[in-house]
Amino acid sequence: MVAVFVSLRWLLVAASVLLLGSNLREGEGRRSNSRFTNLMCETYNESYARFSRCKLKLLARGRAGVNIHLQLFQVPIDNVWINWSMYRRYNGYRPFMYNISSNFCKLMENVNQMSFEGLVIRAIMTRSNLNHTCPYDHDIILDNLEFTDDLLKNLPLPQADYKLQLRFATYKTWRIQVSAFFVRDEV
Ligand SMILES: *[C@@H]1O[C@H](CO)[C@@H](O)[C@H](O)[C@H]1NC(C)=O
Ligand SMILES: *[C@@H]1O[C@H](CO)[C@@H](O)[C@H](O)[C@H]1NC(C)=O
Ligand SMILES: *[C@@H]1O[C@H](CO)[C@@H](O)[C@H](O)[C@H]1NC(C)=O
Ligand SMILES: *[C@@H]1O[C@H](CO)[C@@H](O)[C@H](O)[C@H]1NC(C)=O
Repeated sequence: MVAVFVSLRWLLVAASVLLLGSNLREGEGRRSNSRFTNLMCETYNESYARFSRCKLKLLARGRAGVNIHLQLFQVPIDNVWINWSMYRRYNGYRPFMYNISSNFCKLMENVNQMSFEGLVIRAIMTRSNLNHTCPYDHDIILDNLEFTDDLLKNLPLPQADYKLQLRFATYKTWRIQVSAFFVRDEV
């Protein structure tokens, strides 16, 4: 039963990859190879928040999905700040473009799709239960979020390796940090 389920799932994945591939071939001939390349999760207090999953799942053909399950032990939470910093790799990762701090609950009340934070939050919302405003009274689950050029919309991000580091505080205490590594690439 399990084997049948798994192979059906892979068939579906394979089929969608094939379809995607043929669409692209008929398209303008430029193919994106942008994708997540690594994921790191850190908690500063295991009794407050714990990652029971933090995994980059390889899908097919160089695609990769971010999977996170964050357990929260002190809920509800309705005060969340987030520090965003972006790094670009030259020899080692250097600060690049974004280094800001924002009130996450405010951001969620009005997701501005023209801002970088808005684009990232939009993308996260499509694949997670972090799709509503504060307060949060449940575990946070992120299910196979893929990095695609579409996610960036018109943001001009040169081809390179990047690291996006998100650090979350609740009630003025740092709780967790998630670092997502990705490559922006066109072949
Ligand atoms: C960790 O979190 C727990 C639960 O909120 C709290 O009781 C404890 O004081 C925290 N530990 C530290 C070192 O902050
Ligand atoms: C971001 O800015 C803060 C202060 O505004 C600074 O302390 C920190 O080092 C900066 N981080 C990066 C990666 O530039
Ligand atoms: C990140 O948060 C700390 C503590 O609130 C703050 O001092 C620092 O300036 C923040 N970094 C940025 C880039 O805003
Ligand atoms: C948020 O996501 C969950 C799980 O996918 C879904 O059940 C729920 O309806 C969504 N809520 C909103 C406001 O989109």
